[in-house]
Amino acid sequence: MHKKHIKKLWYYLVLPLSFLAIVIILLTIFEYTRVADIRESLSNVNQEDSISYGKVLFETRGCSSCHSTKPGKESLGPNLSGIGKRKSEHYIKQSIENPSAIIVAGYEDISMPNFGEILNQKQVKALVSYISKIE
Ligand code: HEC
Repeated sequence: MHKKHIKKLWYYLVLPLSFLAIVIILLTIFEYTRVADIRESLSNVNQEDSISYGKVLFETRGCSSCHSTKPGKESLGPNLSGIGKRKSEHYIKQSIENPSAIIVAGYEDISMPNFGEILNQKQVKALVSYISKIE
């Protein structure tokens, strides 16, 4: 290929695409952190009521986009309805903080973000209380 063409390719394709990729990565991180913080504070939830707080976190931290809480509905991640009857709180906590520790059969290791690095202990605890009570 001609040198001039390579330069053009670089300016019109590689640079804009790399820029777009960086923006998408930043937006994804923001979705789980900053945007989630704002949506959480807008909900006015009482953080001491761990089940209600867990429900708000579940909806604002992106969990609900991959997990259904209604029986029979499938998404990217396993359905969580009735999980408290099948699994211990310890297991649920580990699934949130370190999703790669145990991979649910039939699912990929890559999709669930490592929320141990995103959420604090109080948030993880609230999520576990809420999730183990999902009917
Ligand atoms: C991008 C999609 C995605 C997001 C977002 C996500 N998960 Fe997951 N989750 C998965 C997948 C895929 C699995 C199964 C693979 C594995 O075990 O890591 C899983 C597994 C789980 C399990 C174990 C389920 C079982 O049946 O054993 C729990 C509990 C869980 N996630 C809770 C959460 C919580 C809480 C959040 C939000 C803080 C969350 N997930 C966000 C995709 C996601």
